[in-house]
Amino acid sequence: DLRLSITDRCNFRCVYCMDPGVKFADSRELMTVGEMERIVRACVGLGVRNVRLTGGEPTVHPHLTEIIRRMALIPGVEDLSMTTNGSLCTRDRMREWKRAGLHRLTFSLDSVSPEVFDAMTRQTGGERAGVASVVSAIRTAVEEGLAPVKVNAVVIRARNEGEVPKLASLARDIGFEMRFIEYMPLDSGHHWDPSLLLPADEILGLIRAGGHDLISSGRDEASSTSESYAFAGEPGDSPARIGIIAPVTRPFCGQCSRLRITADAKIRPCLFSLEETDLMGSLRGGADDRALEDTLLNTVWAKQAGHGIAKPGFQQPARPMSAIGG
Ligand code: 5AD
Ligand code: SF4
Repeated sequence: DLRLSITDRCNFRCVYCMDPGVKFADSRELMTVGEMERIVRACVGLGVRNVRLTGGEPTVHPHLTEIIRRMALIPGVEDLSMTTNGSLCTRDRMREWKRAGLHRLTFSLDSVSPEVFDAMTRQTGGERAGVASVVSAIRTAVEEGLAPVKVNAVVIRARNEGEVPKLASLARDIGFEMRFIEYMPLDSGHHWDPSLLLPADEILGLIRAGGHDLISSGRDEASSTSESYAFAGEPGDSPARIGIIAPVTRPFCGQCSRLRITADAKIRPCLFSLEETDLMGSLRGGADDRALEDTLLNTVWAKQAGHGIAKPGFQQPARPMSAIGG
C-alpha cells in the first residue's frame, strides 16, 4: 500500500495538521511527474498494488490529471485512490480524473456545521470553501461512481464531538463510509495532548447515542486500519457504513502494510518515523532502477515495530501530516 504525497501545499490549515504559519517547500525540491512515476514503478515492481495520492492537498497540483493518467497506466496498480479536502472537486474535474484512471476518492470532513468547519479548517484570504461545497462534492463523487467513497473525520474533544452523530446521519443520507479517526500527535503546531483524544469507545458511544444502531463487521482486511460497522436497518449492500480508525487506543501497527513517500521524495515507512530515507539524491544523481529498489527494500526491512504513542519517551516526528501524506 503506497501513499504518495504529490505536494506539501494546501488551501486549508486544519487544526490537527498544519499551523497557519507553515512554510512550504520550494517547488524545485519536490518530485516532478516523471520522478513520481519512476518511484511508483519501482514500488510496484517490489509488490505494491494499491496507490493513494495524497498531499498536502493533491487537487492544488497543477498537473494532477497527468499524474493520475501516468499512475493508472503502470501495470500492476490495482487500486488508485486519492485523499482530498473536497474544496476543489468540481463535477467536471472528478469526471476528468475518473477518465484518467482514478478509481475512488476519500474526503476529509470533520463537521457539518459551518461554524465548526470554519474553525477547524482555518482558511484565510482568497476564495474560501464552505462546508456546503464539500458536502456537495461528496454527493457528486458518489453520483459519478468514484466509489466506494469514504469520508474521514478527525475527532477532537470539545471541538467536533457534537458533529459525530450528524456526520453519521450524512453518511446514511448520501450513502458513503464515514470514518472517524482518533487524533494523533502529527500536527505541525504540536498542540496534541492526550486529553484532546476521543477514544474509539467514546466515538462509538456518541454515534449510538445519536440514534444509530451499529453492527460490527470487523476489519475488511487484516491490514485495514479501519474497523467497520453497518447501520442496523440499512440494506446489507448499503454503501452507508461507519469506520473507526483508532491508532492510539486500538493500535494496528503489527498488521500495517503501508509505505509513504513525501513530496520531496523521502521514504517514510511509518507516520511516526523519526528518520526518513532520501530518494531524491538517487533520482537526480542518475541511480538505476536496481539502486532505487535496493533503497526501498532496505528502508522497509528497517521499519520500526510500532508507533509507541503511549510509551514513555514517545517523540512526535518533526514533519506534520501535511508533509507526510495521510
Ligand atoms: N490525527 C489524525 N488524523 C489526521 N489527519 C491529518 N492530521 C491528522 C492527525 N493529527 C488525517 C485527515 C485526513 C488524512 C489525510 O489525514 O483526516 O483525511
Ligand atoms: Fe490541508 Fe488535509 Fe492538512 Fe487539512 S488535513 S490542512 S485539508 S492537508
